Amino acid sequence: MSNVSFDTIQRAYRDRVEAALECYLAAADAPPKRLIEAMRYACLNGGKRLRAMLLYASGEAVNADPGLLDTAACAVEMIHAYSLVHDDLPAMDDDDLRRGKPSCHIAYGEATAILAGDALLTLAFEILATNSTTPADVPRRLQMVRCLARAAGTAGMTGGQSLDLEAVGRTLSREHLATIHQRKTGALIKACVQMGGLSGDASSSELAALEQYAQHLGIAFQIVDDILDEVSTTATLGKTSGADRARNKPTYPSIIGLEASKQLAEDLYRQAIDCLDTLAKNAYTLRQLAEMVVHRTY
Ligand code: IPE
Ligand code: IPE
Ligand code: MG
Ligand code: MG
Ligand code: MG
Repeated sequence: MSNVSFDTIQRAYRDRVEAALECYLAAADAPPKRLIEAMRYACLNGGKRLRAMLLYASGEAVNADPGLLDTAACAVEMIHAYSLVHDDLPAMDDDDLRRGKPSCHIAYGEATAILAGDALLTLAFEILATNSTTPADVPRRLQMVRCLARAAGTAGMTGGQSLDLEAVGRTLSREHLATIHQRKTGALIKACVQMGGLSGDASSSELAALEQYAQHLGIAFQIVDDILDEVSTTATLGKTSGADRARNKPTYPSIIGLEASKQLAEDLYRQAIDCLDTLAKNAYTLRQLAEMVVHRTY
């Protein structure tokens, strides 16, 4: 696909996952109406779709059939959307704005937002476990289920969110912050490339290269999120800027400063794309995505 522009690839992958999400989510008037509406609100309300794109791009790098990737791409975006709904709750980051609109709990109330998150998490695993194309696909599906569950659980996102909340108001070492970022954000990003790799004919060394790439990229992604929280505006981000400082969250900018944080994100970007050199196949989109992650403005 390298003769096609990155913009075109990005649009194609985004359209692909949007269409698949629309198919997997219940219709807006399906019962229980309020819950379904909240799930759709949380899931179909924009977002960069970075995780889906990483999954498709990793599949592309190992010759996977994109048709086999849609379910996993939707599953990961559902889990991501659920993590944002819960992240914004008053008991967590207490954020009123998400993707340029009122957060799910502002629009639907706290109880429905909690349930919408629960239901998105559950639906992710339901679709991943349901849509095997052939009997031979079943072991691969199981590997994907395990991979995504680990990434979303205590060793990954949920564990990271717990450490993130414990860290409020504390002075952390850089290493401790890296662990939090790796879990709360990096784990799900790594799961995307693992699931993409599992969908194709990746060798174990190719899978390892993808994982290394995602390891660097995941941290870089959260560092850039922290930087943007400091330097960007609410209008550009579609979420409240300055929220980390206001809430006393330890971040890379608060620990090592803005300039050093930008340099670190840049270093991690270089390390991430260097990992792709060992991939025999097409890593063009993965390279471009890494560039996008680190140099994005929202
Ligand atoms: C925001 O993720 C939450 C973090 C893990 C930092 P994104 O910036 O990918 O959010 P959307 O999906 O584009 O809204
Ligand atoms: C959240 O990190 C990571 C998640 C697991 C959702 P942040 O709390 O920094 O994400 P934003 O800035 O609210 O999107
Ligand atoms: Mg948070
Ligand atoms: Mg937050
Ligand atoms: Mg943030």
